[in-house]
Amino acid sequence: MMVRKFIKAKMFDYQVLSRAKFPLFFTITLAGMIFIIYTDSIIYDSFEFSNNENFKVLEAHERTERQLRSSNGNMSMQEEIDEVEDENWKSLVPPLSATEEQRIAWFREKMPKFEILKSNNLTWLFHSRVKEFFNSGCETQFFITWISPAGSFGRREFFMLESLFKAHPSACLMILSRSMDSGRGHRILKPLADRGFKVNVATPDLAFLFKNTPAEGWFKEMKSGNKDPGEIPLAQNLSNLIRLAVLYKYGGVYLDTDFIVLKPFTGLKNSIGAQSMDMGTKNWTRLNNAVLIFDMNHPLLLKFMEEFALTFDGNKWGHNGPYLVSRVVENIGKQPGYNFKVLQPMAFYPVDWIRISRLFMKPANRSDSRWVQDKLLQLSGETYGVHLWNKQTRNLRIEEGSVMGSLILEHCLICQHIYSS
Ligand SMILES: *[C@@H]1O[C@H](CO)[C@@H](O)[C@H](O)[C@H]1NC(C)=O
Ligand SMILES: *[C@@H]1O[C@H](CO)[C@@H](O)[C@H](O)[C@H]1NC(C)=O
Ligand SMILES: *[C@@H]1O[C@H](CO)[C@@H](O)[C@H](O)[C@H]1NC(C)=O
Ligand SMILES: *[C@@H]1O[C@H](CO)[C@@H](O)[C@H](O)[C@H]1NC(C)=O
Ligand SMILES: *[C@@H]1O[C@H](CO)[C@@H](O)[C@H](O)[C@H]1NC(C)=O
Repeated sequence: MMVRKFIKAKMFDYQVLSRAKFPLFFTITLAGMIFIIYTDSIIYDSFEFSNNENFKVLEAHERTERQLRSSNGNMSMQEEIDEVEDENWKSLVPPLSATEEQRIAWFREKMPKFEILKSNNLTWLFHSRVKEFFNSGCETQFFITWISPAGSFGRREFFMLESLFKAHPSACLMILSRSMDSGRGHRILKPLADRGFKVNVATPDLAFLFKNTPAEGWFKEMKSGNKDPGEIPLAQNLSNLIRLAVLYKYGGVYLDTDFIVLKPFTGLKNSIGAQSMDMGTKNWTRLNNAVLIFDMNHPLLLKFMEEFALTFDGNKWGHNGPYLVSRVVENIGKQPGYNFKVLQPMAFYPVDWIRISRLFMKPANRSDSRWVQDKLLQLSGETYGVHLWNKQTRNLRIEEGSVMGSLILEHCLICQHIYSS
C-alpha cells in the first residue's frame, strides 16, 4: 500500500534524532548566516536556508561575469536592476549576536526595506492574478515559492519544473515570488511557457494571504515592529507560513524547489509526508512540510497556522517549519474531524539527508551498479517524488550513470545540461 496511514509516533525517537542532528544543523546554519540576506524577495524554502553559502558562490560567479560585461560597457538595463536588487538583499540580514532589543531596533529601522511585508499596487493584483490563472482549466493547482534573487533560480530548480510538468502536463503552477515576477524571471520560465505549459508568477500580498487566518494578528504585530524577528532571516520563516496560507486560500499542492517529481500525484488528497519512521512500529517519527497536499479551508492548515502564530520563535531553526507540522499532528492524535493522511517516507522522502549524496555518484564497481539499478527500481514503485535536501546536495555534481542522472534523464522535458547542472 503506497498510501498507508500511520498512527502518531512516540516523540522519543524524534527527540533522539533531533538531538543528534542539532549540532550539525547549528554549525551549518551559523556558517550560512554569515552570508545570507535574501530578504528582498518573498519566500524561503525551509530546508534551503543553510545553503546560502552556496548561493553566495553562485552569486560571486554571476557578479564576476557581470563585471566583465559591464567593463565592456554593455551591461543591460535589466542586469543593472538585478544588481541593485541583489545589493538590497545584503543589507537585510539580522545582526549576529545581538540582543532581542537590538534586533527589534534593527528591524524597525530596516522595516521600510522589507519589501516582502508590503502591500502595493503590484501585490494588490495578487488574488486576481491567481484566480484568473487558475480559471484557465487546471488539472491540479501547484504552488512553489522563491525567495532568492531570480538569478539564483538555476538548472536544478528548472529540472524540478520540468519533472512536474512531465508528470502533470495539464497542471497549473503558480510561483509565488517577487524576484521571479520580473523580466528576468519570465525569461527563465519562457522555455516552458513556449511549450504551452501553464506556469505563472505572482508577487504575493501577505496582508491579503493572512487575512482572516490565525496568522493575521501575528503578521500585524510583526509589521508593527514590536516583535523580535529572530536571528534567522524573516523571509525564511514567512515561507513556512505562506505555504500554509496559500493552500488554505486556494487549495492544491505546495512543493519545495529541491524536488524531482516522478509520477502524478493522482489520488493523493489532504496528505503530508513523513520523512522518517520507526522501523519496528512503522509509526512516523518526523513529518516534513516540503510537500503539502490540501483542500482549501482544511482544518489541519488552520491548526498549523495557529501553532505558528502561537509559538513563533525566530531563533530556532526548523521550529516554525518541519518541527511545527510534526508537533501539531502529534498533538492532534486521533481527534476526529481532521481527515488527512500521513504518507510513508517512501512517497516523498525515500532517501534521508544523510544518504542522499550517494544518489549523485556514478557506480564505482559491479555491486555499486547493482545498487543503482535496485534503487531506480525501488523508486519507480511507490515514490511520487524525491526530496533532494538541497543543502546537502546543491554542490554535488550529477554524475553520469548515477541514480540522479538516470532520474533526470527519464523525467526531464527539455533535457539540457543535465550533467553540468
Ligand atoms: C505506534 O505503533 C504501535 C504499534 O503499532 C501502536 O500501538 C502505537 O499506538 C503507535 N503510536 C505510538 C505513539 O507509539
Ligand atoms: C558586448 O560587448 C562585447 C565585447 O565588446 C561585444 O562583442 C558584444 O556584441 C556586446 N553585446 C551587446 C549585446 O552589445
Ligand atoms: C502604483 O501606484 C503609484 C502611486 O500611486 C503610481 O504612480 C504607479 O503608476 C502605480 N503603478 C501601477 C503599476 O499601477
Ligand atoms: C524562521 O523559521 C525558522 C525555521 O523554522 C526558524 O527557526 C527561525 O528562527 C525563524 N526566523 C525568523 C526570523 O523568522
Ligand atoms: C564498490 O564501490 C563502493 C563505493 O566506492 C565501495 O564502498 C565498495 O566497497 C566497492 N565494492 C567492491 C566489491 O569493490
